[in-house]
Amino acid sequence: MKNFININDVKDYKSLINETIDIKNNPYKYNHIGKNKVLGLIFFNPSLRTRLSTQKAALQLGMQTLNMNFINEGWQLEFEDQVIMSGNKAEHIKEAAKVISQYCDIIAIRAFALLNNKENDEKDLILNSFVKHATIPVLNMESSIAHPLQGLADALTIEENKNSIKPKIVLTWAPHPKALPHAVANSFINMCKCNDYKLVITNPKGYNLNNNITKGLEIIHDQKEAFKNADFIYTKNWSSYDSYGKVLINDNSWLINEDKMDLTNNAKFMHCLPVRRNVVVSDEVIDSNNSLVYQQANNRTFAAQNILKKLLSNER
Ligand code: CP
Repeated sequence: MKNFININDVKDYKSLINETIDIKNNPYKYNHIGKNKVLGLIFFNPSLRTRLSTQKAALQLGMQTLNMNFINEGWQLEFEDQVIMSGNKAEHIKEAAKVISQYCDIIAIRAFALLNNKENDEKDLILNSFVKHATIPVLNMESSIAHPLQGLADALTIEENKNSIKPKIVLTWAPHPKALPHAVANSFINMCKCNDYKLVITNPKGYNLNNNITKGLEIIHDQKEAFKNADFIYTKNWSSYDSYGKVLINDNSWLINEDKMDLTNNAKFMHCLPVRRNVVVSDEVIDSNNSLVYQQANNRTFAAQNILKKLLSNER
């Protein structure tokens, strides 16, 4: 695998999950693979889980890491070609990507959607510019449109907790005061498709995700109806896709609480974190025995470890 940008970069997703479980059972099995190799972790946005779990994954492969918060610490980057750089932007992505490529063996990039222009966000400019100009593999740590490391950790968590071959999984929108991107939801849907899970999406009207991703899937606007007989409730807020980047609802009618969880088949609760308690989900639900949020976060390490291993050894 040259780069890990989205789920399509993997040849066989089910094998990927099994390999990741194997790594979780024996996390130091490949601790020689990254010897004398350096992972560069470049952040254009904040992170807790992605930063620490990807760094831990690298360490468990014997790699060393370099971290940079680009927004605070880097020169402001120019991405356009053939511009006269007489404004605020002090460095061109061409130089930045090539220079980082000399210091590292893999570059991992986090660069969220700006949510003010759909077409621009869907070009995933920062990530794809690194892919274009870097001379080493690029790893997506959440871009404008995809968070495939989260998707793999979620797949692992579902496989570890499912009680049937084809569990009913509900991806539910939940409230949030700020406009959030679509990347986690997109990658969760793509992951469920790869695994042939029975996926139902529930969101308010006006919040349907990109039809290219949800095509063929059931979308229900009645959250309580969708929850019936669910085995997993995967909760995530996203801003409107049609009214791009807008927050259309400011009440708590879609909050995940015990009454709604009681409609399910004793479903497990999932969320990628960070989460706003009692805005997105009630304390009782996230603190219940059915909550998998810490297991999901733990699985981020093994997801990253398997992907880094594949990038180091150029295997798909
Ligand atoms: N789930 C996730 O990506 O968490 P961070 O934003 O803290 O990295």
